[in-house]
Amino acid sequence: DQDLLDLAAFLANVSGDFPADGSILLNERYLTPEDLEATPTSELRRSYVSSLDALRGVTGSMRADGKFEMAPVVQAVEGLFEQSMTQSSASLLLSTVKSHDEYTYYHSVNACILALAIGRMIGIEREHLIPIGVGAVLHDIGKTAVPTATLNYPGRLDEEQWKEITVHPQEGALAILAAGGPGHEISATVAFEHHARFDGAGYPKISRQKRPHVYSRAVAVADTYDAITTRRSYRRAETPNHALNALLMGAGSGYDPDLVRTFIDMMGIYPPGSVLEHDGGVAVVVSRTSEPGGPLDTLLVRDPQGNDIDPEPFSLHPDSVRGQLLAQDSGIDPAALLESVDQELLSS
Ligand SMILES: [Fe+2]
Repeated sequence: DQDLLDLAAFLANVSGDFPADGSILLNERYLTPEDLEATPTSELRRSYVSSLDALRGVTGSMRADGKFEMAPVVQAVEGLFEQSMTQSSASLLLSTVKSHDEYTYYHSVNACILALAIGRMIGIEREHLIPIGVGAVLHDIGKTAVPTATLNYPGRLDEEQWKEITVHPQEGALAILAAGGPGHEISATVAFEHHARFDGAGYPKISRQKRPHVYSRAVAVADTYDAITTRRSYRRAETPNHALNALLMGAGSGYDPDLVRTFIDMMGIYPPGSVLEHDGGVAVVVSRTSEPGGPLDTLLVRDPQGNDIDPEPFSLHPDSVRGQLLAQDSGIDPAALLESVDQELLSS
């Protein structure tokens, strides 16, 4: 327990030096039109796959000898960052990809993409955004220190098992500090605080006096959104819109209310990847809405009779939405539609 307090004191000390603790800058765009030049979607997919690979590597070496190399992770996150700068909607659409077998890897990369997007929204500069992304990718790396039997335990955890689980934020932070790399204190702080709630509850239990750093709060929003929209063995997935509602319900208690609002502004009421029913069939939202309440950029994938059709661009008014489907249940993989979307939409 003394070790935990020492680690908390150390991270509190370094995180006090990061800018923006406790306040959010809305929103200096630092993209120029030249930055928005479309790049091939394949580059984005390559960055995604590299990030999965980096995470597989880190997990393997953590299990083998309790430490890992930071460089491949930083490189992978830099790739995701560069690609998502030029193709922001594409990266949000790609972040809806799921894997049941490799849940943790896909979830962590998705959380990274979403955290980078939030960070950009609130004007965090690249120098800090990359370590935030690294922290998001590695947020659960401390789970390699938790016995597998506990991680996969299907029922309610007893006190001992729960204790084993709750060490993962500090184990992750320690491993990141040991690995080093540019801005690694930021990454360690994000991992350390990813289960700390905005109101001071959550774990590790350090102090209710100090809120988690704003970077950690951003990652918590990204982490939660992706987790809710993903099917697990013990619960079904929820729609993107439902996940936004859950964040909204927790705004001010579990989550930073300003960041929740920012996230909803960024994603729109029907975020990219939403599968929507309307009179004309079934459509998948493929881009962020440019104005609140404005028409949704979608691809029509089913006709009114329920037959699959070749995806075609369809501008859908939100008032025409009759229902939302769960991607998995409907047999539609939104991320697979990426290549069918007009390049111009993907950079918006
Ligand atoms: Fe976690």
